[in-house]
Amino acid sequence: MDKAVILAGGQGKRMKAEMPKPLFKVLGEPMLEWVITACESADISDICVVKGYKGEMIDEYLAGRYTTVNQAERLGTGHAVQQAIPFLSNEKNGNTLVLCGDAPFIDEETIRQSLMLHKQNDNAVTVITAELDDPTGYGRIVRTDNGIKGIVEHKDATPAQRSIKEVNSGAYWFKTGDLISLLGKLTNDNAQKEYYLTDTVSIAISEGKKAGAYRSNNANIIKGANDRRDLLELNNYARMEVINKHLINGVEFVCTDGVIIERSVEIGLGTSIQPNTILRGKTKIGEGCIIGPNSVAEDCIIGNNVVFNTAQAYQSEIEDGANVGPFVHIRPDSRIGSDARVGDFVEVKNSAIGSKTAIAHLAYIGDSDIGRKVNIGAGTVTVNFDGVAKSRCVIGDYSFVGSNTSLIAPLRLGKGVYTAAGTTVTRDVPDYALAIDRGELKVNEGYTLRKMKAKK
Ligand code: UD1
Ligand code: CA
Repeated sequence: MDKAVILAGGQGKRMKAEMPKPLFKVLGEPMLEWVITACESADISDICVVKGYKGEMIDEYLAGRYTTVNQAERLGTGHAVQQAIPFLSNEKNGNTLVLCGDAPFIDEETIRQSLMLHKQNDNAVTVITAELDDPTGYGRIVRTDNGIKGIVEHKDATPAQRSIKEVNSGAYWFKTGDLISLLGKLTNDNAQKEYYLTDTVSIAISEGKKAGAYRSNNANIIKGANDRRDLLELNNYARMEVINKHLINGVEFVCTDGVIIERSVEIGLGTSIQPNTILRGKTKIGEGCIIGPNSVAEDCIIGNNVVFNTAQAYQSEIEDGANVGPFVHIRPDSRIGSDARVGDFVEVKNSAIGSKTAIAHLAYIGDSDIGRKVNIGAGTVTVNFDGVAKSRCVIGDYSFVGSNTSLIAPLRLGKGVYTAAGTTVTRDVPDYALAIDRGELKVNEGYTLRKMKAKK
């Protein structure tokens, strides 16, 4: 089985944060996760991550999904891979892909194609390369008439070598057995006094082994981030890549300002995404919706023909034809039924709202199950928390909850129940009943005039 080793030991001092660089996020996911996803999509699932600076944060993030090994001191990329030798040794006959954890745009196709070339040519090592207009800082690929001779780091390169535009992406395929033996032969005899993984290429050639280069047409595989400006650039690039994918799939954008869509989001045909809309995680949106402007949806399932305007929803479901917003907050574990209407200044939490029910304005609905075709008046509050425990409200189909009703949970309103405006409902109400709670209204005539006179 093929393996992958991902180097994630670096700090990234210029990020100015106490976090391993591969954990900085691009479109909501750590760069390390992008690299892992590329491996997984190329069917590589035997992965070892080399951690170093703040390695415990890498472990915490991976939560046991993959093996990690620790590089106690940062002595170079070759030294980093040496730490993975125990991981490599249990199966020396396959191939191993070495990758940088801070170059997020390595892709499935590059991984598969380079492996094909690696196997076809029976190489001990195949380095993945690309051409850059400005190769400054990168290792240069030194080619010969019929192959490659080695990789020269920028700091060690002659002026002639520095003019080479083909650079090392930092990703390579090795025959696992050869990798283990080559790692044992590295020295730190160079400008940076580091054990360079790149030296494996010239060592392999000097031993009569075959080495080659796979040149990718996608120069983005090299893109990494040294500081936060670079990271912003990666985010902008990834953001437009995702938007372009949706445009090709028939999603409408008239202006992409402030639109951030994470790469796992799915959007149906003919849906329109308005400015300042952020779609995160496993959000899935149907066809013919209008989403935004000024909206956030995270891990939400949204049906067809939904209007979601100036609203935020988290870990919830919104069914076909619902109309949500503006100024609506839907908190986790909620379900808004088909053709329901949730309007201005409404908060819904951990509640199910039935089909065609209207909560048109100014309400808090928490821990509740509301039936179909219910009308919830303005100012209605489910009093779901008594300071110690949370309780549920159940409201039957066709009920009409008058404005400013307080529903003291636990509480059950039957079917077709009316509550009078301003009522505080403290116990269950049976089907088709009216709950009304009215103090006697006193009208004191001439009061204002008497008060003014007394003041003079
Ligand atoms: C390396 C390559 C260079 C290539 C470039 C691509 C070497 C000697 N040079 O250069 O040819 O063009 O990547 O970006 O390999 N890391 C560790 N432990 C260490 C050192 C590095 O885990 O001791 C990790 C870093 O976190 C990073 C990766 O290895 O993820 C690459 O390290 P970096 O310092 O960026 O390598 P470069 O010197 O830029
Ligand atoms: Ca680098």
